[in-house]
Amino acid sequence: MAPFIRLVLASLVLVSTSAYYVQQNEEGFISGVISDKGLDFAKDILIEQGIVSVVQLQLPEIEKSVQVPFIGNAKVVLSEITIKDIQVNSSSVVSGESGIFLLVSGATADLTMNWRLHLVTVLSRIETLGAYSVEGMQVGLTVDLRNEEGTLKLILLDYGCYVTDLSIKLEGGASWLYQVLVDAFQGNIASAVEQGISDKISEGIGKLDTLLQSLPKQISVDNFAQLNVSFVGNPILSNTSVAVAINGLFTERNVGLVPQGYRKELQVSSACGGLPKMIKVSIHENVFKSASLVYFNAGKMQMIIDELPNQAILNTAEWRFIVPQLYKQYPNDDMQLNISASSPPVILVDKQDVRASVLVDITIDVLEAGEVIPVACISVDISGSCSVDIIRNKINGRLKLQEFSAYLKWSKIGKLHISLIQSLISTALKTVVVPYLNLELKKGLALPTIDGFAFQNANILYYPPWITVCTDVSYSEDYYLTQHSAYVS
Ligand SMILES: *[C@@H]1O[C@H](CO)[C@@H](O)[C@H](O)[C@H]1NC(C)=O
Ligand SMILES: *[C@@H]1O[C@H](CO)[C@@H](O)[C@H](O)[C@H]1NC(C)=O
Ligand SMILES: *[C@@H]1O[C@H](CO)[C@@H](O)[C@H](O)[C@H]1NC(C)=O
Ligand SMILES: *[C@@H]1O[C@H](CO)[C@@H](O)[C@H](O)[C@H]1NC(C)=O
Repeated sequence: MAPFIRLVLASLVLVSTSAYYVQQNEEGFISGVISDKGLDFAKDILIEQGIVSVVQLQLPEIEKSVQVPFIGNAKVVLSEITIKDIQVNSSSVVSGESGIFLLVSGATADLTMNWRLHLVTVLSRIETLGAYSVEGMQVGLTVDLRNEEGTLKLILLDYGCYVTDLSIKLEGGASWLYQVLVDAFQGNIASAVEQGISDKISEGIGKLDTLLQSLPKQISVDNFAQLNVSFVGNPILSNTSVAVAINGLFTERNVGLVPQGYRKELQVSSACGGLPKMIKVSIHENVFKSASLVYFNAGKMQMIIDELPNQAILNTAEWRFIVPQLYKQYPNDDMQLNISASSPPVILVDKQDVRASVLVDITIDVLEAGEVIPVACISVDISGSCSVDIIRNKINGRLKLQEFSAYLKWSKIGKLHISLIQSLISTALKTVVVPYLNLELKKGLALPTIDGFAFQNANILYYPPWITVCTDVSYSEDYYLTQHSAYVS
């Protein structure tokens, strides 16, 4: 059996029969599923990069004693055998339970080379041989992906390049000599090409693996938070998709606190509500919960409001008839509101948006002679909804205030009628707090992606407790070439 057919058959058997092991209850809260369409896209990029890495590849010299008509025995040396171009006729990628199999068939390689003829006497001639092409070339490889301590390892299980057909296009010259070269060197040239390309495959996969291994396990989000992007469990390969999961939870920077009690099985389906998308990224609501906890613990859920559109509200004079004690104790003093979350916001993914509710303490401070004097505290239960959007590689949101309820926690200025200060809270929330938070949300949270890739035509789908981004991917080769020239060179 031809070696190549053997490789193909071995791959198929491997793909369809090997048992694979899906770990349950993995702590993966962001999952990515690459569909057939996505694999096809990745395959085309890989082949393009592969061709770039093979073009200009110089194969080793071939030297041979041949019987040359009319001349007799001579030593012929083929040197500077260079692959000038590769054309790929068709290619395919198949994934299965234990591997991804990529096949390029009917490829043609164009070569150039020099030849040198050494006669037993002294004559030596160097000449450039015209175009030489190797046709009917098949290239195949099977890789597997494994999790190795939180990073992905790309394992090359099998690979090969087989030249089934050789054709030589002559460009002038002595045809008898070319015929000699064809007859004597055909097999050598074919195996030199096979070897050269095989070596490049193994080298290329090695570099790709290095690139994967160099992906960070933690990404800093800002001074307070980092996102754990360690891979969790082994990738799940099936005949329609490749799924990976990352931990995806926020942790406090430099604290190393590992969040507990988050457990969820990895989602594998690549279904996107009927949309033919390349990838599907699912984010569990625990990701938002962990972020909420980190920022709460870091004391970041606090803001001071000392400016309002109606600035008069922030002066005790405005309140002299409504809260006479306040004006009596602090006549004509400016005030500020200290808004501070009293517990981490509760965030839930719902059917159409993300729900958030938060309990905040609004402390009314009087500013007197450079001193901040808290005079009353109102506890407010706020709930809102957030619609999520993806713009390029960032997820951002828009918050809408749904309702709030308030009660007086304590007061040093006598009894306050909540109904009287509802308007104060309402004004503060609607004109300052929500617009401020929306400004922050608009900055967005960068989704973990590999440089050079960008999301395109993303759709958001809600599958509580998951929020899912179904998207195509675009790839900027320029970026890739400048940033990762090591891979293609
Ligand atoms: C390229 O593919 C087409 C169909 O897929 C086939 O007919 C043709 O012979 C192939 N050419 C080569 C050079 O393999
Ligand atoms: C994928 O595998 C399942 C069973 O494991 C089978 O039912 C299905 O037809 C396969 N799909 C393709 C496209 O091969
Ligand atoms: C990151 O996630 C991995 C996988 O869940 C876990 O083993 C590791 O402890 C986490 N690291 C931190 C700093 O939370
Ligand atoms: C705001 O209030 C919180 C408690 O409600 C307090 O811990 C914090 O120090 C106050 N901040 C300022 C600037 O007054």
